[in-house]
Amino acid sequence: MELEQTLIKKIKTAGQEHLLRYWSILTEQEQQEFASQLEAVNFDILPELINQYVLNRPQTAIPADLGPAPFFPLNPRSEEEKKRYEQAEKEGKELLKSGRVCCLTVAGGQGTRLGFDGPKGSYPIGPVSGRPLFAYFAQNILRAGEKYGKPITWYIMTSKLNNQDTVDFFRKNNFFGLQENQVFFFVQGTMPAIGYDGKLLMANTHSLSLSPDGHGGTLLALRKSGALDRMKKEGTDIISYFQVDNPLVHVVDPLFIGMHIQENAQMSAVMLSKTGPFEKLGNFCVSGGRLQIIEYSDLPEELAEKRNADGTLAFVAGSPAIHLIQRDFVEELTSSGNLRLPWHRADKKIPFIDENGSAISPSEPNGVKLESFIFDALPLASRTMVMEFDRAEVFAPTKNPTGVDSAESCRRMLVDRDLKRLASVGVRIPCKADGTPDVTVEISPRLVLDAEDAAQLATSRLIDFENGMKVVIE
Ligand code: UTP
Repeated sequence: MELEQTLIKKIKTAGQEHLLRYWSILTEQEQQEFASQLEAVNFDILPELINQYVLNRPQTAIPADLGPAPFFPLNPRSEEEKKRYEQAEKEGKELLKSGRVCCLTVAGGQGTRLGFDGPKGSYPIGPVSGRPLFAYFAQNILRAGEKYGKPITWYIMTSKLNNQDTVDFFRKNNFFGLQENQVFFFVQGTMPAIGYDGKLLMANTHSLSLSPDGHGGTLLALRKSGALDRMKKEGTDIISYFQVDNPLVHVVDPLFIGMHIQENAQMSAVMLSKTGPFEKLGNFCVSGGRLQIIEYSDLPEELAEKRNADGTLAFVAGSPAIHLIQRDFVEELTSSGNLRLPWHRADKKIPFIDENGSAISPSEPNGVKLESFIFDALPLASRTMVMEFDRAEVFAPTKNPTGVDSAESCRRMLVDRDLKRLASVGVRIPCKADGTPDVTVEISPRLVLDAEDAAQLATSRLIDFENGMKVVIE
């Protein structure tokens, strides 16, 4: 087949002629595959993108008026605020009962740090059972649907690289008890990787080196996949957004939902108090009256270390990437069929083929992957709301196999959360001589969604632990 002349011209004008080097030796099918990849690249804006993000290193501009973002604190500051939280929680429960909330998990990442072979969501995280990450969300979603009397639709974003494996994994596990049509998979967009010389890298003779376009790609993918249409049809207008590597998250949280609606927010965010000035969490800030997140690597040291009069950190609010997003906000942002969130540059070791067609696996970073981030939608929202939650209750990221933010630390947090739930309703927890718990417990997420469920569990079952036990409460 022949490539369209206009496309060839665009490729050449963008300085990417090397992409056509192998065209004449490709099979018909390879040509077709490669042509559809090339057609999807916006060669018109490529030179500008390369100049801005690859040949130059973009600096995040720190506005002069940058200040810490206000938030609703974990513990209400007054009797009045306490009443407000109670009212919001009630309202959140009503919204769940009326079926206005859906869940959205972003699972399109490559999970390189975890180094696990397969979609990250299939990683066995259950501290006793080895239940996979996906099962935590699925079974909580199932329980929430049961509790509030309305099944919750679950939108899962995958990438081209892991979509089939993810769908197969759900099939193999009978959708963890959910109805098959309750789960809506959709595939995010891709971005071509770019070498340090500004040339798009090729994975082989007939393929660009493509990678997922970041969790910011969620917004456009929601529209393109028909997910927004489905939400509209089902009457859901509040999207509960979370990441695939945090099994501690509240898949739906009535208080958070109620506050979001009371504040009439288009997009809301959970915040955690940072453990120190340089903790690796995005920082909630405001500038020009707009909420924004500044990455930890971009916040100037003097701001990170700035303290209030009482000694607490001024920029204390860190982001665990848990959001509520109004469906009509996504509709508004993507109405043109396009959405230009800023790109973020990541320097990576990207396998490629050289000018002789030889496959190279570089040992040092050789190029750039560009990703957009969902939190860059926050400043675009007319109204936002940030609310503090207890880290031990909502955030256990599984980024690495061991160490900080690892599968190891995540499992420990899951066990601690379940032990705390049991202890708070009077269950005796056997301890070691040093006072630390001497049992490993995993309460099924199908059984217990929240503290109310935990209290019921303890009164309906006799739970009698012995030292050293490893127990799954199903
Ligand atoms: P991370 O930034 O932790 O990236 O993603 P990752 O790909 O999972 O892991 P590393 O950096 O390669 O080790 C945070 C969340 O955003 C999703 C991930 O699946 C995870 O839930 N994500 C990330 C996407 O859905 N798409 C992307 O393009 C990137």
